[in-house]
Amino acid sequence: MKKEIKKITTHVLLQMKQKGEKISMLTAYDYTTAKILDHAGIDVLLVGDSASNVMAGHETTLPITLDQMIYHASSVVRAVNRALIVVDLPFGSYQGNSKEALNSAIRIMKESGAHAVKLEGGKEIKESVERILSAGIPVMGHLGLTPQSIYKFGTYEVRAREKVEAERILSDAELLEKTGCFAIVLEKIPAELADKVAKKILIPVIGIGAGGGVDGQVLVLHDMLGLNNEFNPRFLRRYLNLYDDIKGAVQNYIKDVKSKDFPNAKEQY
Ligand code: KIV
Repeated sequence: MKKEIKKITTHVLLQMKQKGEKISMLTAYDYTTAKILDHAGIDVLLVGDSASNVMAGHETTLPITLDQMIYHASSVVRAVNRALIVVDLPFGSYQGNSKEALNSAIRIMKESGAHAVKLEGGKEIKESVERILSAGIPVMGHLGLTPQSIYKFGTYEVRAREKVEAERILSDAELLEKTGCFAIVLEKIPAELADKVAKKILIPVIGIGAGGGVDGQVLVLHDMLGLNNEFNPRFLRRYLNLYDDIKGAVQNYIKDVKSKDFPNAKEQY
């Protein structure tokens, strides 16, 4: 008999926090890799707007469009049986007003079949979060380094080293929890602050460059697989070196084609 798969829901994530079981999350943007990640047992897949960087080659996350996010998200949805799929609302699709935010979130849910959306920001997006939630769409928050605001920050350095910004992150996290978010991502902030936030609020806190005191971890898939060997932040652990492996494989293929070694007698009809 086929074993029943226990799907990850926002409720399951909450239970994981309550039990002290860490949540694993990775980005995914396409069918083939999403399928591998789901079979491996990942809890949450984030169709991140980092697709703008790693898939499309833009310098920032700003250029990616809602249509492009929906394309990536629907490819991921077709691959996945177990993981919870969260999709980033891209820059420009929710900052205008809460009606625009709701329309963008509805398009993502309706056209891709994903399970939740993620928005960057705190107090300033409260109304949009409320309106999206009122339509029954689960919302994940994102505080700390929020790459859609890179031109305001000016750098990708660690955020909230100063007291004022640290206090703002804490109060924004409490506000997002109160508003109804099911989880929050904290990006690139001091581990001590992230730990404090995770202890203060009841919903799961997923960190990237935010230390081990939070309830789960997220990494950009291309970074942890070593597909990009030019990005070396301190928080990144590389589990493979695919840049070198793929380059080596392609060099071998080129060599075999040029030398007429490929295809051999068994590799033809
Ligand atoms: O877009 C993304 O990949 C993200 C993660 C860095 C959390 O938002």
